[in-house]
Order: sequence, then structure tokens, then C-alpha cells
Amino acid sequence: MPLPPKWSLGYHQSRYSYKSEKEVRELVETFKAKRVPLDAIYLDIHYMDEYRVFTFDSNRFPNPKKLIEELRKDGIRVVPIVDPGVKAGENYPIYREETNESHFCKYSKGDVYHGDVWPGRSAFPDFTNEKTRRWWGKQHKFYTDLGIEGVWNDMNEPSVFNETKTMDLAVIHENNGQPKTHGELHNIYGMMMGATTHEGLKDELANKRPFVLIRAGYAGIQRYATVWTGDNRSFWEHLQMALPMCMNLELSGVAFCGPDVGGFANDSNGELLTRWTQVGLFTPYFRNHSVLNSIHQELWSFGTRYEEMIKRYIEERYVWLPYLYNVFKEASRTGMPVMRPLLLEFPYDEQTVNIYDQFMVGEDVLVAPILTPSTNHRVVYLPEGTWIDYWTDQKRVGGKYHLVYADIDTLPIFIKEGAIIPLTAPKASTNEKDKQLFIHLYPQANESKSYTLYEDDGLSLNHETGACFECDIHMEASADQLTITTHEKINGYSPDWEERIFIIHGAIKEENIRLNDKMQFVSRILIKDNAHDS
Ligand code: NOJ
Repeated sequence: MPLPPKWSLGYHQSRYSYKSEKEVRELVETFKAKRVPLDAIYLDIHYMDEYRVFTFDSNRFPNPKKLIEELRKDGIRVVPIVDPGVKAGENYPIYREETNESHFCKYSKGDVYHGDVWPGRSAFPDFTNEKTRRWWGKQHKFYTDLGIEGVWNDMNEPSVFNETKTMDLAVIHENNGQPKTHGELHNIYGMMMGATTHEGLKDELANKRPFVLIRAGYAGIQRYATVWTGDNRSFWEHLQMALPMCMNLELSGVAFCGPDVGGFANDSNGELLTRWTQVGLFTPYFRNHSVLNSIHQELWSFGTRYEEMIKRYIEERYVWLPYLYNVFKEASRTGMPVMRPLLLEFPYDEQTVNIYDQFMVGEDVLVAPILTPSTNHRVVYLPEGTWIDYWTDQKRVGGKYHLVYADIDTLPIFIKEGAIIPLTAPKASTNEKDKQLFIHLYPQANESKSYTLYEDDGLSLNHETGACFECDIHMEASADQLTITTHEKINGYSPDWEERIFIIHGAIKEENIRLNDKMQFVSRILIKDNAHDS
């Protein structure tokens, strides 16, 4: 997968639908007033003129450009939905053009296939054709001209409101001169739409990284889009299922995925949303989304007690972004998952094979969320080694099961001893610069560890031609001494950090720490020694 824009890793808020400019502005004002971080707002189908893709309803959204520009100043991006179904009707240029240019899917006799979706009778572009992909891709200028950098592709299985729920299998796809039936190409239709949107946005965005969120894909979809797991429900069971679903997607190459946080259909509640947001902190994609007519699911919907807890976890996402971005960098280079089943990191530990309610983020962080109501405890399996509670620094011995207490405000997070974890301070959105970088060191006696810290501008494609920063951080620990060495390998980009603070988790005296620091920033050392074993 390509390295995604950093803003796509922030917190996203969605709803089917925020129906007007007024509603969107009120939403943003509430986020700002409550100082809740936010990077993107989604416009579901109601932003359009009678659900016609590549349009805005001029009554409800009188000036989208102005709205998008103003939100952008607050660090918030707008992601509109674009479905494949094109409303039939001669008064709609996209439909007319498509008919003329013959971009629609057709039957063998040449008559265009029509199916019912949100806009009513609709036709579907034939994404198996190169010329149609180019044509549809170019339409995205409509959005990029308004300042949009990300698009949400939905219903792209394609979903059709009929008995079979999809396109007639007898429809013929031109497939660049090698015609095949929809029965044969159904599984790649959605992915080709994603490829089209990705390429179209990329062409129009000049040097910026595009973002595409998608519902349907096929092996390889990670090259074009982020996958969310579709219409779940606000049930505890669906929160539980989200973990194995995402881990399986991750093992299938889709490193950037996530569920609708809080649950899409049915009514959510404060406890469920709190626990789900805790999971969302570490799912690669982090968006709260809910269906029309369900209870509102923004974090303030269930009273201040839940609001405060949920806010803290959204803030925590921003704290973890440097670490997450580094794991994403690894995913983009090697295909390694961001959210990993334990068996991937500990393949020789039989206990890990069936664990689906815990996961690793990168190689050093183990997350064991609470996934049932009214629950303050859970069993956590910690593989071989020593594990350090992220919140309390309590040490736990691995290779066994632990009973862990986690009240509603706590997501159990364990750091593998020996780890190096870069974190930062919470902020309003990824638009704000990270002034401080906290490099947390969890030294393991008589062991050494190297970590490569990666950074770039988070927005452009310049990193592909060397505009990035890479620094090796090496720590070597004896029982009571620690040597930290840093070495800048690539200097093609100058990070924002004004101060770097090494936080040592362990009983090491300051005079026994040697810092051989060749990084260009001011450095400080803090020792956090409240470790106690269990
Ligand atoms: C189905 C999608 O899965 C859902 O997320 C969306 O809100 C609705 N379509 C309406 O566009």
C-alpha cells in the first residue's frame, strides 16, 4: 500500500447523513468548543442533488468551496461519498455523456443495464475498461477543485436494490476488448472502482497523497483504498467481531482498515461507544459512523461522563500517531499488518493461535480491550517476555494468562520490554505541528534494541524521492546502565519537533545513562521509575 496522508490516520466523524452546511458547521463548532481532535467529516448521500454523484444540492450546501476552505483552516477535511450508480435522466450531464461515450455496463445486444440504487434508476460505469476509468477519474476534478482530497466509495460491489442484490450476472463487461460477464468479473468490479478513484484523485491532486475509503475490494485493494468493514450494528457482538475481521483483512494485505466505531445500525449507548472508541484508538482506520434515524453517536450524545472518557481516547490516538505512522511506514514497505494477530508476532507460541480478542499494533504493543458490557476484568494472555502496563508501568511476566482489571475508563495496553515507542502530545488535528517528541524507552537488562524513527511531511509524495527523515535509535542496557545512541540516516526532511524527550521506564539512575545523541534537536531525559512487578 502507498503511505497514506497523515490526516487519514486522525479521528474521523461521519453520519448518514450530515445533511446541510448548517449541520456540518454546528458539528465542527461543537468539536471545537469541546476541544475534541478531528481530522475529517464525511458527507453521506444527502449532500448530493437527488443523489447524483459529482453534484452538491445547492439549497442544503449553497457554497461547498467556502465551507471546505473554512473547515480546512481548522485542520478538518471533508470526504464526500461517491457511489457507482449514476442516476438515469437526460438532464444530468454525467449520464448523458456516459451514454454518448458508451461508458456504461451493457447487455450483449448493446442495451445499457439499469438497476435501482439510492438515486432510483441508475446506470453503472464499466470500470473494467481503461477508457472508462480515465473518464470517471477525471470527473473527480469536480471535488478536487473544491479542495477535497479524499473520497468515500460505497455500494461498489456493486450493490443494487433487487433480489440478487447486485448487477445482473449476464451483463457484459468490455474489459479492454476481452469481454467477460458480470458473473466472471463481479469480484473485481468494486476494486476497479477504487483504482479509478485513487488514480483520478492522484492526477488532480498534483503532488498530494489521495485518500479513498471503500467498502468492496479484492486481493490488492490496499494499493488504492482504505477498507472499512461495512454495515455493522451497535451490538457488543459486532464490536467483538470487528477484531478478527480486521486482523483477517490485515493478514490479507489490507493494512489500513477499520470498523464503524460505535456501530452503524441500531442505537449505540455510552458504554458501548466508550469501549468501541478504545478499540478505535488502535484500529488502523478510526471513524465513528451511524445510520439515518438511529440515535446520534457523536461522543457527547450519552452524557458528560462518557464524553470525557471518549475524548481522552480520541486524544490518545494523536499521542500514538508517531508510533502508528512508523508502523504504517513498515506496512507500505513490506505489507506487514498494522493491527496484528498475536500469532504473527509469536508464531511458535501455540497459545496465540486462537486469540482473536487481543491484538498487536506493530511488534511491541499488545492491546486487550474489554468487549462485553458491565465488565471490569478480563483475562489477557501475555506471550513470553516481560510486559509493561502502558498506564501504570506495572511489570507482568509473560508466557501466561493474567486477570487484568480495566474499569470503563481503561483500555489495557501492554508494552513489550525492550521496546522503543515514539509518542507525542495530543493536538486538535494532524494539521498542528508536533513540538515535542517523547521517545519512550523500556530497557531490558543485558539486551539491546534498535528502532528506526521515520518522519516526513505526511501530505505530499516527496517522500518517494527522498524527502524524509530516518534516524536509528539504539539502546543498550546492562542491569543498571543504559546507553542510547542515535544516528540520522536520512535527512531529506526536517521534522517539526523542537524538543525530543527520552523517557526511560526503569530503575536506572541518571548518572548511569549515556546519551550519544547525534540528532539535530534539543534532547532531555526523564526517568519514570514507578515499576512494580506482578
Ligand atoms: C451503505 C454504507 O455501508 C453506509 O456506510 C452508508 O451510510 C449508506 N450506504 C448510505 O450511503
